[in-house]
Amino acid sequence: MTQTPRQVVVTGAGSGIGAAVAKRFVDNGDVVHLLDISADRLASVSADLPAAQVTTHVVDVTDHVRVAETIAEVSANGAIDVLAGCAGVFDGLAGIEQTTHELWNRVIDINLTGTFNVVKPVVESMITQRSGSIVLIGSIAASRATPDGLAYDTSKAALEGMTRRLAVDLGQYGINANLVAPGVVGTAIRATSEEILGDMVPDTNVGVGTSPELMKMLIPLQRGGTSEEVAATVFFLASAGAAYISGDVVHVDGGWIAS
Ligand SMILES: NC(=O)c1ccc[n+]([C@@H]2O[C@H](COP(=O)([O-])OP(=O)(O)OC[C@H]3O[C@@H](n4cnc5c(N)ncnc54)[C@H](O)[C@@H]3O)[C@@H](O)[C@H]2O)c1
Repeated sequence: MTQTPRQVVVTGAGSGIGAAVAKRFVDNGDVVHLLDISADRLASVSADLPAAQVTTHVVDVTDHVRVAETIAEVSANGAIDVLAGCAGVFDGLAGIEQTTHELWNRVIDINLTGTFNVVKPVVESMITQRSGSIVLIGSIAASRATPDGLAYDTSKAALEGMTRRLAVDLGQYGINANLVAPGVVGTAIRATSEEILGDMVPDTNVGVGTSPELMKMLIPLQRGGTSEEVAATVFFLASAGAAYISGDVVHVDGGWIAS
């Protein structure tokens, strides 16, 4: 593993978990490249971070050409050491009957193909230095179907498969790949998803995260988590202490997976 300051790419860095991840690496002294589809959110997050340690890039992860250009730009001064793939949208709990082809395609395009679009050029950069850590953000939705929608559940389950294959392919280069699966985390994901996907997101608002009773019943620690708690795990998986962990899924869910 490379010592600090490392070059870190964080997608979805404009809000919630991605913003907390970016801050965690900045606090460690790393150089962090923040990517997000929203210029406003990037400006707001970066305003609180030291300018010398961050760059911001307005990028839609579904645009693989623009993603590749951005990764080439940020890796021009040195290979990328860490990728934290946090960009994602939520499908408003849409089940099979509510999931239109349009909603399905957009969620899969952003959550799954968008992740591949970033991983692909980042891996090329990491291979040049024969080291690196990839940490993707999945979800409890890969293992528990009811709290989210069909397209979302599917995209997050697929990311676990992607993580395992990346671990297999990249171990020979000293690169590890893992996935962090959060449970309920208080972020703006409904609002940002509605902004990005428009009115194709059903307005169902009954989820585990909105019901203290459900949270108490399903989550042994009886509360939602914070973006900082997820960020701490991402940071660990990209540290020297986690160098021998690869292809794994780490749940940051208050024990929900056990219940
Ligand atoms: N909040 C939760 O309870 C929870 C639980 C499990 C998993 N997750 C996952 O954590 C990740 C972060 O979610 P969050 O809760 O912090 O949400 P958030 O909405 O606060 O942050 C997500 C960020 O991703 C960005 N984004 C979305 N689509 C994009 C695109 N096409 N290109 C570039 N950027 C894009 C958004 O603009 C936003 O800034 C997501 O992958 C989400 O699925 C969240």
